Amino acid sequence: MKAVRTRLPGITLRDGVAPDADAVAQLLSMVNPDDPEAFGDVRLNLAMPQEGPLSHSRTLVVLAEDAQGSPVGTLFAGAPFWLFDHPVTSHPDLLGELVARIGVISAVAVHPGHRGGGVGAELIRHAVRRFTRAGYGLLTLNCFPELEEYYDRLGFTIMDDLIVHVPDGRMAAPVWDDTRVAARALDRHTVLAAVPGLDSPVVSGILPGSRVPAGAYFDGEKLHN
Ligand SMILES: CC(C)(COP(=O)(O)OP(=O)(O)OC[C@H]1O[C@@H](n2cnc3c(N)ncnc32)[C@H](O)[C@@H]1OP(=O)(O)O)[C@@H](O)C(=O)NCCC(=O)NCCS
Repeated sequence: MKAVRTRLPGITLRDGVAPDADAVAQLLSMVNPDDPEAFGDVRLNLAMPQEGPLSHSRTLVVLAEDAQGSPVGTLFAGAPFWLFDHPVTSHPDLLGELVARIGVISAVAVHPGHRGGGVGAELIRHAVRRFTRAGYGLLTLNCFPELEEYYDRLGFTIMDDLIVHVPDGRMAAPVWDDTRVAARALDRHTVLAAVPGLDSPVVSGILPGSRVPAGAYFDGEKLHN
């Protein structure tokens, strides 16, 4: 994808390419200073062929650059790992469909000298557009507590748990002990539905046949219509 202008003077966004690996990895190393290689797999993704539906198959790597072409921020997103080992979603019939419908922003990082100027927000809005255009229904991220308000302002709902309703009335709810989840529905089929008995909304309609029926409630074990 060609570079796109943003509403910020001089700042453009473009898909990452293989020679960007060091710059992208350096920016991402700032997300978790205790584990600077936490997003080291971005290098493998950048080495993959640049083909759709996102920048590198089902991975999106975007670089923000200033007017001189220097990298000022990056966003790394793709398929949620939990889908691959959750007992409900890892079923071969479901997995392929769900990885085409649910995406996760793994990391966003902006160079310290450019923070607070809206680059992070431009990267996140760009990711929302790219995932929407690629046919996804839900974009999620695991949220640092101090950034919950920030993602709320960007149109995400902050929830204790991510609960996804899949066909046949089953539900998948990955467990994260340390973070809450931010999620944003991307199309008219997908809704974050309030269900009596559950503290977090349920992702309804992510696949055909997965809408939560009106009047449904959770009894502590399963969903009833
Ligand atoms: C989080 C981050 C990507 C935001 O990028 P940015 O370009 O500075 O963000 P924007 O300019 O769009 O928005 C700035 C707003 O974000 C919020 N914000 C950013 N970092 C924050 C923090 N550590 N605590 C609380 N609020 C924060 C504030 O509301 C801030 O507004 P302010 O400047 O008026 O206080 C950037 O601060 C960063 O790279 N941080 C280090 C890496 C990281 O934590 N990444 C996020 C987790 S993956």
